[in-house]
Amino acid sequence: NLNLKKNERIGVDYIKGILQPTPTCDIWDEIWNFQAKPDDLLISTYPKAGTTWIQEIVDMIQNDGNIEKCKRAPTHLRFAFIELKIPSLPSGVDKANAMPSPRKLKTHLPIQLLPPSFLEKGCKIIYVARNAKDILVSYYHFQKMNAVLPDPGTWEEYFEDFLDGKVCWGSWYDHVKGWWEAKDKYPILYLFYEDMKENPKHEIQKIMEFMGKNLDEDALDKIIYHTSFDIMKKNPMANYTTIPGEIMDHSVSPFMRKGTVGDWKNYFTVAQNERFNEIYKEKMADTTLSFFMDD
Ligand code: A3P
Repeated sequence: NLNLKKNERIGVDYIKGILQPTPTCDIWDEIWNFQAKPDDLLISTYPKAGTTWIQEIVDMIQNDGNIEKCKRAPTHLRFAFIELKIPSLPSGVDKANAMPSPRKLKTHLPIQLLPPSFLEKGCKIIYVARNAKDILVSYYHFQKMNAVLPDPGTWEEYFEDFLDGKVCWGSWYDHVKGWWEAKDKYPILYLFYEDMKENPKHEIQKIMEFMGKNLDEDALDKIIYHTSFDIMKKNPMANYTTIPGEIMDHSVSPFMRKGTVGDWKNYFTVAQNERFNEIYKEKMADTTLSFFMDD
C-alpha cells in the first residue's frame, strides 16, 4: 500500500544531475555500493526501449525454451530491478541479494550512475536501445499509467521535458551514447528494438551466443513465438497486470500498448517533428550511433 491519494504521485529528486524517484534517491548509497557477482547477467535500457521484451527472451533462453518455467513468476520477480525502490516494499538491491546465482538483473541507469561493481566484475550486460521518437510517445503513456513516476503533464509539456532530459533516468541522448561508448571496453551486447522487430530470429540468436547457450531450431521457434507482442500482451507473467492497480493503471494505458516502430507519427505535429529533428541532429553529431525511425 503506497498510501497515495487518487492521482497523487511519488516525488522526484536529482542524483548527480539525473532525475530519479525520491525513494531511489533516499537509498542511493546502497544502490551505488551494490555488489555484483561475475556470473550476473544485467539488462540495461533507457525506459521504454523494450526491457520487458528482452527480459522474456533472456529468461526463455536461460530455461532452454521451456514456456512453463518462464511462467513461474511475473517479470519483476524473475529479474531484480537494481535501483527500484517502492516505499514499504523490498528494494531492487534487497531482491538481488536474496536471489540465487546466476542472477538476472535489470537497470535503467545511465552508464555514469551504474554501480561500479558491474564493470569491475566483468558482468555480461545486454543493452537495448530504441529510437527517441517512439520512446517519447511510449514514456508519455507509461508515466500516465504509473504512480511511481511523475504525472507527465500535457503532451506539449512532456515533449519539452523529454528534449531537456528532465525526465526520470535523464537525457535519452546521453544514455544511448554513453552505453554505446562503453560497449567497446566492456562485455556489452548493444541491441536495437527496431532490429528485434525486423528480424527477431537473428537478434535472439545473437543473444543466445552472447549468453553462451546453444539451443536447437525448435526451441528458437518457441522463443520467437512466446516473446511476440501479441502473446506477451496476453501473458499475465509478462504484461505487468499482476502489479496492483494503485501502482499501474492499465485502464489509463496498457503496459503492452502497441509494440510498433513509428507510432510517433500519430502524436508528433509537423512543427514538433521539425524541432525534434533539429535538436536530434545537434545532439547526435558526436557519435557513430544511428537509429532507424522512419524520419
Ligand atoms: P509501446 O508503448 O510503444 O507499445 P519497457 O519494457 O522498456 O518498459 O518497454 C515497453 C515498450 O515495449 C512498450 O512500447 C511495449 O508495448 C513494448 N513491448 C513490450 N513487449 C514487446 C514485444 N514482445 N514486442 C514488441 N514490443 C514490445
